[in-house]
Amino acid sequence: MMVKIGTSVYEAAEILKNGGLVGIPTETVYGLAGNALDSNTILSIFETKNRPKFDPLIVHTYSLEKAVEYADIHPKLINLAEKFWPGPLTILASKKSIIPDLISSGLPQMALRVPNNGLTLELLRLLEFPLAAPSANPFGYISPTQAQHVEDQLGDKIPYILDGGSCHVGIESTIVGIENDTLTIYRTGGLSVEEIEGFYNEKVVINTHSSSDPLAPGMLKKHYSPNKTVKILPNNYIIDTSTNRVGVMMFSDVHPQIANDFNVVLSHSKSLMEASQSLFSALRELDAMDIDTIYLQLVPNVGLGRAINDRITRAAAED
Ligand code: TXA
Ligand code: MG
Repeated sequence: MMVKIGTSVYEAAEILKNGGLVGIPTETVYGLAGNALDSNTILSIFETKNRPKFDPLIVHTYSLEKAVEYADIHPKLINLAEKFWPGPLTILASKKSIIPDLISSGLPQMALRVPNNGLTLELLRLLEFPLAAPSANPFGYISPTQAQHVEDQLGDKIPYILDGGSCHVGIESTIVGIENDTLTIYRTGGLSVEEIEGFYNEKVVINTHSSSDPLAPGMLKKHYSPNKTVKILPNNYIIDTSTNRVGVMMFSDVHPQIANDFNVVLSHSKSLMEASQSLFSALRELDAMDIDTIYLQLVPNVGLGRAINDRITRAAAED
C-alpha cells in the first residue's frame, strides 16, 4: 500500500466510512484513527500498531455533547471537559454498550477526548461515528508529532495521512478519572496538574506508577523508546565517552563534553512548552544518529515538566 499525505478531510472521511484507517493530526501527537463503533476496524488498529489488546484506546469526538452519547460521565469530569475541551485532556467514564468492549480492553470505563485541531474536528463532524485513535506509532516506540513521522513508520500499512503540520503540544493528553470521589491523574500530559488543581481549587491524586502488569493498562514501565541504549544524564553531568559514541538531549544548554552535532537542546529559552513540542522529534533525531548511547537530561519537574520527565523516564526504562 502506498500512503498518501494530504489535507482533504473528504478523502479521509471516505476511507474511514469504508472501515479503513487514517493518520490524523491532533494538538498532542498524531493518531491512528478508525471507526470506534466497528469491532473489525478496532481490531485492525491493534494489529497495525502491533499493540497488545490489554492496552485500551481513546475515543475522539468533536464535542462534549457527542461524548455523552457514548459514556456516562461523572459531573466533576463534565465540568473539567467544559473548561478544557477541545484540548489535551482525556477523561475516563462508564462506557455505554454502543461502544465495543475491545475499545476499553473489556474494562467498564472508556477513555474520551475532544482534540484541539481544526482539520480533525472538521473530519469528526463529517462522520456519523466517533474515532478510536491511539498514537500513530508502532507499540512502544516514540510517538509521532509530524505527518512525516507517521509515514516513516506506518506508511506501508495505511492509505492516508491527514497533514495538520507539527503538533503544538507535542506530548500526549493528560488522563483523568474519578477514584473514591477524588480526581485522579493516570497519565501526566499536555494539560498540567497545576492547571487542573487550579480549576478545582483542590489537590488531585497522581497515580501514574509504572507497571508491567497487563491488568494495569497503558502504564507499562518501558514506553516511548528509541531503539538505541537510553540513559538518564546523571546529576553530575559526567558521561563516559571512552568506549561509547554518545548523543545527548539537553533541556536548555549544550553538554560541554559532547560535540555540538550530538547535542540536541529542547529549548534555549528554558520554556517547558517549547521543550514538550520538541521532545519526540529530538528523540527521533538522536535515534537516527550514528551513536551507541543516548543520554537524556531531565527537565524541571513542574507544569509540563512532569509529563516530559515521565516520557524521558519511560524511554530510558529497562524492559
Ligand atoms: O494525546 C493523546 O491522548 C493521543 C492522541 C492521538 O489523542 N492518544 C494517545 O493514545 O496517546 P494511546 O493509545 O497512545 O494511549 C492511550 C492510553 C492507554 O495506553 C491507557 O493508558 C489509557 O490511554 N486508557 C485508554 N482507555 C483507558 C481505560 N478504559 N482505562 C484506563 N486507561 C485507559
Ligand atoms: Mg501511545
